[in-house]
Amino acid sequence: MHETLTVELGSRTYPIYIGNDTFSHENFLTQHIKGKQVFIVSNATVAKLYMPALLKVLNTVYQADTYLIPDGEQYKTLETYSRVIDELMRKRHNRSTTLIALGGGVIGDITGFVAATYQRGVGFLQIPTTLLAQVDSSVGGKTGVNHPDGKNMIGAFYQPSSVFIDVDALRSLPEREFSAGLAEVVKYGVIWDAGFFSWLEGNMQALLAKDRSALVTAIKMSCKIKALIVSEDEREEGVRAILNFGHTFGHALERMTRYTQFLHGEAVSIGMVMAADLSRRLGWLSCDDVSRLENLLEAGGLPTKFGQPINTTEMLSSMGMDKKVVDGKLRLVLAKTLGSAQIVESVDSQMLRDALISNV
Ligand code: NAD
Ligand code: GLY
Repeated sequence: MHETLTVELGSRTYPIYIGNDTFSHENFLTQHIKGKQVFIVSNATVAKLYMPALLKVLNTVYQADTYLIPDGEQYKTLETYSRVIDELMRKRHNRSTTLIALGGGVIGDITGFVAATYQRGVGFLQIPTTLLAQVDSSVGGKTGVNHPDGKNMIGAFYQPSSVFIDVDALRSLPEREFSAGLAEVVKYGVIWDAGFFSWLEGNMQALLAKDRSALVTAIKMSCKIKALIVSEDEREEGVRAILNFGHTFGHALERMTRYTQFLHGEAVSIGMVMAADLSRRLGWLSCDDVSRLENLLEAGGLPTKFGQPINTTEMLSSMGMDKKVVDGKLRLVLAKTLGSAQIVESVDSQMLRDALISNV
């Protein structure tokens, strides 16, 4: 059984399928493949779990080639991108080939960027296997690789032609990675849907237990909200920026700890609490709202405090380096209520410092 959502983008509209039997329905996957060639990009960790089933479906119908890249964010580079292109050339993939990303956000981002640029754009399907990829990176068309001086600095907007989400793939995901994905799920409740936030409060244990029906609901709600926002503002010229709630703080925390201490979702979790605290100082959220957010994140196995003294000057300068800075102004996404967000162009710097210091 699959639930289907649609990302409405005119001629580039595409479906997101959410269920638990992605690999066993041949037609289901193949109806979205136009040519005779497919090229599956993955890594060894994911491939050993899910590639055999995928190849079983695809091998008989297509020239199905695979390419494994090393596992890790440090390989999300132009060099890896270039190796994938080399392999496509070597295996003579033509303009009607379809690239399939099988893995987490790293695989999805690189594969999407290759798909956007190989022969000026070829078919692209996403099979996300981390919670973060299922609720965030596989939807919305941001693709790319890192530059040594900054994350995601090279890339393109390139939408997939469909996204296949198999919730059972989350059973093999390490707990810490699963919780990191939950941070993005909670984010959707805060920025868009108070009812979903309350639902998460009542269902966090079911999600941690990988209850299928709870997972389908949480992923469907998350993708629905992301799809709505992306349909309205594909290129992040306006409302899409609210998807960065907690991220300007989180990115700064990741940078300050040299990307060694926190997974992205963990840093975003602490960042969301900082953003919520700032929202409270502006009179938007109540103390009770901020506590509810902290409790929900903690129930999801996430950190809510930095856990060490914070150098606010370093943190503010690190936040200023974030690429969400427009024309030198620090734009922050804050919560107007639990369930709605607002982009704020200028924030009192003492208030911001106070919000940082009180959340270490
Ligand atoms: P990841 O891709 O590194 O995956 C995390 C780990 O889980 C890896 O070791 C991976 O091999 C492993 N893994 C994946 N699926 C598994 C499974 N089912 N079972 C067991 N292990 C599994 O990390 P991520 O958190 O998925 O993605 C992070 C990346 O996503 C970052 O590069 C970030 O910039 C990007 N991102 C992109 C967008 C976007 O809109 N394009 C949004 C958010 C994040
Ligand atoms: N991850 C934020 C976005 O896709 O816009």
